[in-house]
Amino acid sequence: MKIYVTDQDGEEHALDAIEGWRVMEIIRDHGLPIKAECGGACACATCHVYVDEAWLGKLAAMRDDEEEMLDEAFDVQDNSRLSCQIIMDESLDGLKVRLARYD
Ligand code: FES
Repeated sequence: MKIYVTDQDGEEHALDAIEGWRVMEIIRDHGLPIKAECGGACACATCHVYVDEAWLGKLAAMRDDEEEMLDEAFDVQDNSRLSCQIIMDESLDGLKVRLARYD
């Protein structure tokens, strides 16, 4: 499985993805710039990504805690999600996201 991640400089990276991993962990494991300060506990919003429109409907719905935490992120858009709350599975093979700025 692959996910496609566009970094803050506009460069796209194809990353090998593992079922059951959080998308944040996949991005971090490949060394791309994502802060993910809280380590996936849905408590920091520094794993903020923009999900490609074509994929938005395929993600599990946001839980309240993700929505509340996103309220504290910068430049939130309709396609904003916290990547630590997206768990990889086969239905997300090919997922495209863009990293948000966090500084
Ligand atoms: S890593 Fe902190 S909210 Fe996702």
